[in-house]
Amino acid sequence: MNLQNKNILLTGASGGIGQALALALAEKGARLWLVGRDAVALNTLCARLPHSEHHSVVVVNHYSDEDIEDLTRLFWGNTRLDVLINNAGTNRFALLEEQSFSDIREQIRVNVELPLLLTRGLCHQFNAGGIILNIGSILGEIGHPGYSIYSATKAALHRFSEALGRELSLSGLSVLYVAPRATRTRFNTEAANALNASLGNGSDTAEYVAQKIILSLEKEHKRQRLGFVEKLFVKINALLPSIVDRALSKKMSVIDRYARQHAGRSVK
Ligand SMILES: NC(=O)c1ccc[n+]([C@@H]2O[C@H](COP(=O)([O-])OP(=O)(O)OC[C@H]3O[C@@H](n4cnc5c(N)ncnc54)[C@H](OP(=O)(O)O)[C@@H]3O)[C@@H](O)[C@H]2O)c1
Repeated sequence: MNLQNKNILLTGASGGIGQALALALAEKGARLWLVGRDAVALNTLCARLPHSEHHSVVVVNHYSDEDIEDLTRLFWGNTRLDVLINNAGTNRFALLEEQSFSDIREQIRVNVELPLLLTRGLCHQFNAGGIILNIGSILGEIGHPGYSIYSATKAALHRFSEALGRELSLSGLSVLYVAPRATRTRFNTEAANALNASLGNGSDTAEYVAQKIILSLEKEHKRQRLGFVEKLFVKINALLPSIVDRALSKKMSVIDRYARQHAGRSVK
């Protein structure tokens, strides 16, 4: 897709990857609807974008059903949507036994329920050739200790993307899925960063990830994973998961130590 003059709705626009992506998309000449909960951050971002007057800030409080209906109404009539980017996401790096019910619900709500409902709400609002792009994670394809809930939610988003892409194959709409590896944003806690450093895990800047996402949109790559070693691990995990079981089991005492830095949460 040529992104010039395309109408793009981006969730989680105030976050690390969201901001880098908004800048890169605006530089390509796209018209953006920057969606999120933080009005100040979104307005500051909008003011920094090339042709800031072409872009809109949409503040949503909870992504309630009403919020989603309001978003839907933005794309009736002459203004239709070309790309929906489901980028908002959250995680808790912690052992399952130390995650509260609300920690678990929040990850399911933001990483699964929200993109699925938004996609359902907006699916009739697209121009021909429209794209739904879901931002997943390498951890959606490699179940990783300390991230059991997050891995489960991103796996769900991955399968949703695959199934919906196939369901829409005759409609002219495409569904793309991009899975970043660790990215240097506020998303990762100090404990998560320390674990990555200790295990020698690679990480990317948000700007690099944004460029890869743009490439996926332009080339309409159905699936893209970032990181050479991570891609290899995903393939080994799919074919011979016991090899990855053993590799992660050897690292478990280190993972356990960092993950317990979140210790002390009650169940609710
Ligand atoms: N950073 C990484 O290591 C990494 C790796 C792989 C995949 N990813 C994925 O990349 C995407 C962007 O991550 P990021 O690194 O840019 O993270 P980030 O800087 O923490 O930004 C996350 C965004 O999601 C929104 N969000 C968080 N919790 C929310 C909630 N409860 N309700 C509604 N919105 C919420 C935030 O919006 P508000 O401003 O409204 O809070 C924020 O704009 C996520 O889907 C994440 O899973 C990240």
